Amino acid sequence: MGDQKGYGLLKGKKGLIFGALDDRSIAWRIALACQREGAAFSLSNAPVALRFGSLDELAEETGSKIFPCDVTKEEDVQELMKNVKEEHGKIDFILHAIGMSPNVRKNKGYHELNYQWLQQTLDISAISLHKVIRYADEIDLLNDGASIVALSYIGAQRIFSKYGDMNDAKALLESIARNYGSRLANRGIRVNTVSQAPTKTSAGSGIKGFDGMFTFAEKLAPLGNPTADECADYCVTLFSDLTRKVTMQNLYHDGGFVTAGINEDMINDLAQLYADKEGEG
Ligand SMILES: NC(=O)c1ccc[n+]([C@@H]2O[C@H](COP(=O)([O-])OP(=O)(O)OC[C@H]3O[C@@H](n4cnc5c(N)ncnc54)[C@H](O)[C@@H]3O)[C@@H](O)[C@H]2O)c1
Repeated sequence: MGDQKGYGLLKGKKGLIFGALDDRSIAWRIALACQREGAAFSLSNAPVALRFGSLDELAEETGSKIFPCDVTKEEDVQELMKNVKEEHGKIDFILHAIGMSPNVRKNKGYHELNYQWLQQTLDISAISLHKVIRYADEIDLLNDGASIVALSYIGAQRIFSKYGDMNDAKALLESIARNYGSRLANRGIRVNTVSQAPTKTSAGSGIKGFDGMFTFAEKLAPLGNPTADECADYCVTLFSDLTRKVTMQNLYHDGGFVTAGINEDMINDLAQLYADKEGEG
């Protein structure tokens, strides 16, 4: 879409966007796309991220307010929902783009997990979705027909060795989306996860071996890896009224990676690589 004007898909809609840290963040790109499509929204991130990141710039560019919230703290989430209601009244969409694993960050293998860190991984990356929806619902922040999207990764279904306990966190995140989706459907509220391909962001690059995962996905996906801006365009459709009956889904946004087995180029490259290795041995 680049600098184009957009389609007005979110005209008059209001939202809450979690997880924009710097201009590479998927949430940052989604915020820009939401603005392009006519939405107004509040931005939120953890207090520590507000100190180190550059969210002020995004707030200025989009005319949005920032509300700090550490999503592991229930009282923070409750306070945030109150603030957002004061700011906008009821809202139409929420983006959850939050993920972090101290085990992955500190390169702890899956067989030697630090369990306190595992609790943090699950709390930050998955259980936070439950808290966000719960406290938004409790103060009646969501309009009927609202749309909630959380960003996930295919590690929820298939094991990617370097993704460690985040594989488990994403499985839980997707389950919470389904579980809550079933409970809010009577008001037409949709809850989905978007399973995005590897994307070069701060969280992405924090994973050891990320470049290998990125290249593998890029080579295998028939359409190649989607960028954060392309993910943003997809999320806009999910926030819009064009997807009113899509709920409790995990939606792959990965250029076809999930369905691809192997392709001619990779077969040829691998055959060559292993022939060379055998030659060396
Ligand atoms: N980058 C990728 O390759 C990729 C692929 C698929 C899915 N995702 C998912 O996309 C989402 C956004 O990640 P990103 O890649 O844009 O990286 P990012 O680092 O820009 O975003 C992660 C965000 O989580 C926030 N966060 C961490 N702890 C928090 C807490 N306690 N309270 C509130 N916020 C907290 C961070 O401050 C940061 O803004 C994550 O859920 C991530 O798992 C990323």
